[in-house]
Amino acid sequence: ETGRVTYDPGFANTASTTSAVTFIDGDEGVLRYRGYSIEELTEKSTFVEVSYLLIYGELPTQEQLDAFDQRLRRHTIVHEDLRRFFQAFPYDAHPMPMVASAINAMSTFYQDNLSVFDDDQIDLSTVRMLAKMPTIAALAHRKVVGLPVVHPDNSLNLVENFLRVNFGFPSEPYEVDPLVAKAMDQLFILHADHEQNCSTSTVRLVGSSQANIFQSISAGINALAGPLHGGANSAVLDMLEEIAASDDGPQKFMDRVKNKEEGVRLMGFGHRVYKNYDPRAAIIKQTAHDIIDKLGGNDEMLDLAMSLEEIALADDYFVERRLYPNVDFYTGLIYKAMGFPTNMFTVLFAVGRLPGWIAQWREMIKDPETRIGRPRQIYTGESARSYTPMNER
Ligand code: SDX
Repeated sequence: ETGRVTYDPGFANTASTTSAVTFIDGDEGVLRYRGYSIEELTEKSTFVEVSYLLIYGELPTQEQLDAFDQRLRRHTIVHEDLRRFFQAFPYDAHPMPMVASAINAMSTFYQDNLSVFDDDQIDLSTVRMLAKMPTIAALAHRKVVGLPVVHPDNSLNLVENFLRVNFGFPSEPYEVDPLVAKAMDQLFILHADHEQNCSTSTVRLVGSSQANIFQSISAGINALAGPLHGGANSAVLDMLEEIAASDDGPQKFMDRVKNKEEGVRLMGFGHRVYKNYDPRAAIIKQTAHDIIDKLGGNDEMLDLAMSLEEIALADDYFVERRLYPNVDFYTGLIYKAMGFPTNMFTVLFAVGRLPGWIAQWREMIKDPETRIGRPRQIYTGESARSYTPMNER
């Protein structure tokens, strides 16, 4: 109940990971950041405030929050040479490797501020990354859709700015839709951290070698890109579109899943830790209804998603395997309704997860008990043997 959870990474011979950042109870469907429930935080807080909470451990005073917000607004611009990276990527490049490359490259633009021991340098890197990640994500999006870059307007807050640089145009003012901004803010909060998942463990493992924060988080972005992890939100929409385009219908698709047909998986379902409904999915499902009612589009896809959920919750195959919707099941429908292309969905996951990665990297690097991660193995190869001359092979 103290929130301190031990995690044994299997065969690692490093100390088990203990962390005070996020608490999950997979059976009860509980998720808390620094002791605060996601239900309360999504209702009463903002993504900028939750980022502060995750990173510094406490909710900020109004003065602390204003100062943090102002610092973020002053660091939204990226170096022009970094911006030119996006001109060099192929026209059909996927945005996730673009974003991972840009975050990694940040360590080449701030070479005098990469110490993993100096608190002020760590803090400046923290602010730079939080502030520039939305700009970098939007640069990738604008590359994908072939539209001109829109520079940040620092009179807007982080989420409003994010919507503007993604959907605005240099030649005209951008009107932030409050419902869309609130939904985006809420989704970022719900993605902000999740204990020792694959990408966060990657950030901690890479960081344990004292690689700098940009290198460590770039590795985490690459781990998140996998379809079994953050890539699932795009895969859900591909799955829904495939079902909608076929004559099969949801039940036939679910039968194929149960038959374990090669490459047929119910994306957006199942979780290593949650053996109940992912508490994030419960909140996101309502937001999907609100956004699609407001923005239109995707009704057919939402109905199809709900049919799949209904079938799964009533079918022993899924119930016995404790397969419930996870965070990725409904998010893609919201992102598509907002106007993002499918290949941007996992980038949005990364924007939300960034404060959690930073908080976990900082916790690891500041822990005097941290040693370089060095997982061990059970050797299953050949016993010792002598070199075989070529003519005897
Ligand atoms: C995220 O760790 C985190 O916290 C991650 C995350 C975060 O915030 O960081 O929550 C974000 O990654 C959410 C998960 C997104 N991924 C997907 O939606 C992809 C689809 N889901 C799965 O591939 C799977 O459920 C995992 C990867 C999420 C979890 O896999 P596990 O725990 O290793 O489960 P498993 O593969 O051992 O499966 C157990 C059984 C198997 O059946 P049997 O072999 O026992 O007969 O359940 C089946 C699996 O075949 N199964 C599924 C399934 N997921 C598991 N069958 C059909 N569809 C699925 N989605």
